[in-house]
Amino acid sequence: MATMKSLIGLINKIQRACTVLGDHGGEGMSLWEALPTVAVVGGQSSGKSSVLESVVGRDFLPRGSGIVTRRPLVLQLHKTEDGTTEYAEFLHAPKKRFADFAAVRKEIEDETDRITGKSKQISNIPIQLSIYSPNVVNLTLIDLPGLTKVAVDGQPESIVQDIENMVRSYVEKPNCIILAISPANQDIATSDAIKLAREVDPTGERTFGVATKLDIMDKGTDCLDVLEGRSYRLQHPWVGIVNRSQADINKRVDMIAARRKEQEYFETSPEYGHLASRMGSEYLAKLLSQHLETVIRQKIPSIVALINKSIDEINAELDRIGRPIAVDSGAQLYTILELCRAFDRVFKEHLD
Ligand code: GDP
Ligand code: NA
Ligand code: MG
Repeated sequence: MATMKSLIGLINKIQRACTVLGDHGGEGMSLWEALPTVAVVGGQSSGKSSVLESVVGRDFLPRGSGIVTRRPLVLQLHKTEDGTTEYAEFLHAPKKRFADFAAVRKEIEDETDRITGKSKQISNIPIQLSIYSPNVVNLTLIDLPGLTKVAVDGQPESIVQDIENMVRSYVEKPNCIILAISPANQDIATSDAIKLAREVDPTGERTFGVATKLDIMDKGTDCLDVLEGRSYRLQHPWVGIVNRSQADINKRVDMIAARRKEQEYFETSPEYGHLASRMGSEYLAKLLSQHLETVIRQKIPSIVALINKSIDEINAELDRIGRPIAVDSGAQLYTILELCRAFDRVFKEHLD
């Protein structure tokens, strides 16, 4: 188990290295693409941010109406073992430790604007955030802009298609695990997340269905057909979630209290009581972490092959530009090369 933890940690390091190199899974075959990731997909206001915050146990995401998430947010969660240490760190500001999560929210907003201007446009350049906390499991999640049907706030019409294209570019990759968020108070048949997931993953082998807002479904209706796998069958079990309501957020109910309340909701629910041990955001986080570990283990041979290819390419690039003498892009490449070699060694040990 300790070994698997370090494997997710290793993948996280490679992802950060890739981002520094400008490789974020865009055109062509990249190392990024070979790494298993979990992408959070859903319509606007479906509860994506709420699920992420609940998994992290902290309030830290920008919120508001309209298109709030305008760059992918790569969120790397690292469990700290001492039971207290908790801070966040951005790849674009590596020397700064954020202990105040309100400041993390502000930094995400500022960093979004830094690339997109105040234009409210979207950008596919990810923001990379690491959170170290005793309340998380080791997991990497990517928050993506919400799927939407209409442009608002003076945004160009094209933004609807731009968002879909960006989300699709993540979820169509065979190594992407899709966390498909659907609000249970709307017909799941019309869920943007499930529609897109079915298109790119028809067998449902890499889709995890999440039903949010169970607490505000119409009286007399429930979500059992979905949660028990009768309506929208996926290879993995559906997980039901009760996030904080807007009133809870306004009252500043903290995330850990919200998680407890959620668990209570399921345990005392006449409809869902029998499913309680497999519902809620803590269970979802554990499920995803376990699945990610399994997938990483399966992918090690192909990742090793790609790392070796990267080593060759970086060596060729270094030969072309000359070995580094100062702190410049050459030096950065050199560091990456050293990193790749280290990964290669560690992965080979895992393979034995
Ligand atoms: P996003 O746009 O998909 O990121 O959605 P948010 O997480 O920002 O949630 C949108 C709104 O729905 C917020 O006001 C949340 O408080 C509310 N919300 C999300 N999930 C739930 C839920 O499970 N139950 C209730 N009652 N409200 C929720
Ligand atoms: Na939103
Ligand atoms: Mg959001």
